Amino acid sequence: MIKSSASATRSGPCAVHQWIFSSLGKKTVVAVTGMLLVLFVIGHLIGNLTVFLGPDALNAYAEKLHSLGPILWVVRIGLLAVVGLHIFFTMLLWKENQKARPKKYIASNPIGTTVFARTMRLSGLIVLAFVVFHLAHFTARVVDTSYQSMTTTLAGHQVHNVYGMVVKGFSSAPMVAIYVVGLFLLTFHLSHGLSSLFQTIGITNTRIRKNYELAGRSIAWLLFLGYTSIPIAILVFGLGKGAAQ
Ligand code: HEM
Repeated sequence: MIKSSASATRSGPCAVHQWIFSSLGKKTVVAVTGMLLVLFVIGHLIGNLTVFLGPDALNAYAEKLHSLGPILWVVRIGLLAVVGLHIFFTMLLWKENQKARPKKYIASNPIGTTVFARTMRLSGLIVLAFVVFHLAHFTARVVDTSYQSMTTTLAGHQVHNVYGMVVKGFSSAPMVAIYVVGLFLLTFHLSHGLSSLFQTIGITNTRIRKNYELAGRSIAWLLFLGYTSIPIAILVFGLGKGAAQ
């Protein structure tokens, strides 16, 4: 305690540091990083939905992303930093809440909190595990190494057959089940995350906040529908049949 206030005085302009590590600052970091991740999830879905426009559309989109080269790496590292900050500040907040509730033996009363709120850390951890699995599956391509040699021709160039890879990936029912469960938990996590964001940014009018909460939940469920439409269309409705050579 003494050490931290001493270093605060020594380093001078610590207002920002103090604010970030205040309760409101921590909540704001979690909210802002969460918002950035939601924006990524929306953008990624829009890109992935090109699967419905046919092989060339999805392969061209993937090729365009890969052609960004170093910029893509900057975005990837930025994304990783955002995920790291989101988790780190969530843990700080959790520790703060634990300290504020010293009588652990008294059962906490969950009245007024939703099942979404009470399971945020667990759903967040499972979503993280799902994203790591997803990266191993479609980015590192180590879950099924045959994806690595899948190529196709696009405008006269040989490119990675992302469309074929996605179709092959989702032609397996267990794989689709893993994705649907992972996406469901993501929705669960976002549903509460988006609504608590509005509390953090100080919307106190109950009626307005309720509308924003509804908007948050609707966005989360729309994302669920958008994402799950891809594996379902492939497995159940045969989208892209024959493309996974
Ligand atoms: C049905 C659902 C999804 C499909 C079909 C899908 C598809 C893909 C594909 C094909 C790639 C590899 C792109 C390439 O290397 O060319 C990819 C990468 C990635 N996906 Fe997904 N994705 C889905 C869901 C998600 C979700 C829900 C998240 C996050 C919560 C996510 C996060 C990522 C990330 C971080 C990458 C790495 C991007 C990079 O290469 O830098 N994906 N996805």
